[in-house]
Amino acid sequence: MPSVAEHYERVLSPVYAWMAGGAEHALAAGKTEIDALALPLPAGSLIVDLGAGFGMHAIPLARAGTRVLAIDSSAHLLAELKRLAADLPITIAQDDLLSFRGHLQGKASAIFCMGDTLTHLPEHTHVDFLVQEACEALAPGGYFVLSFRDYSEVLREHDRFIPVRSDERRILLCFLEYQEDTVLVHDILHERSGDAWETRVSSYQKLRLSPDRVISSLESFGFEARQQAGLRGMVRIVAKLP
Ligand SMILES: C[S@@+](CC[C@H](N)C(=O)[O-])C[C@H]1O[C@@H](n2cnc3c(N)ncnc32)[C@H](O)[C@@H]1O
Repeated sequence: MPSVAEHYERVLSPVYAWMAGGAEHALAAGKTEIDALALPLPAGSLIVDLGAGFGMHAIPLARAGTRVLAIDSSAHLLAELKRLAADLPITIAQDDLLSFRGHLQGKASAIFCMGDTLTHLPEHTHVDFLVQEACEALAPGGYFVLSFRDYSEVLREHDRFIPVRSDERRILLCFLEYQEDTVLVHDILHERSGDAWETRVSSYQKLRLSPDRVISSLESFGFEARQQAGLRGMVRIVAKLP
């Protein structure tokens, strides 16, 4: 089975912005989400975006006047972020998000880990490690904001086939295969090439995280956490250090 990074390079990264409805649409949705959070983030404050992708949250945060450290493992998505960000104050690092502290200079006012990035971590213990690292990296009163899909409930039969997006050139469909702690995600991408369709299938594992499990990890490190409804059926958790 390919690693998460290999799966992105092989299938998802080249179509990720398309999958999200196009970069402009996604950046507008990211801005709406940031605005709705209404976090007190003064101009110039330091923000970390873990698994930043092409910058759905990093770009609106930087446009609002903050300095952003954007971490992602995908060279393709970071190149797209760099192009879209132009001269915004975003520092880009291609690295594992668990190593973000090595790129951070000073304490952060907020850390974001959005759009189901958290479930890409291989083990539940990595989630606890990330929460601990976030706790150490944040200034007092800092925020850790996470959004992810709750895969703790098992979908059955036809509900496991999830049409992600389709148009006249491309169709992306997901199939979910549940295991005890993880769900195996099979991405099936059809792309039009001349008169024919080309199909690529690649699979990777995601963690079956429950919101309660994440909240209890956050609380064990001293965060006050509340759960909200996120975008596109995701769960959002806003956690604050005292
Ligand atoms: C589902 S996408 C979300 C992207 C973005 N946060 C958003 O909301 O659009 C997950 C992102 O996390 C990145 N990623 C997954 N695992 C990672 C890891 N261990 N370290 C760094 N980046 C990772 C992927 O390359 C991808 O860009």
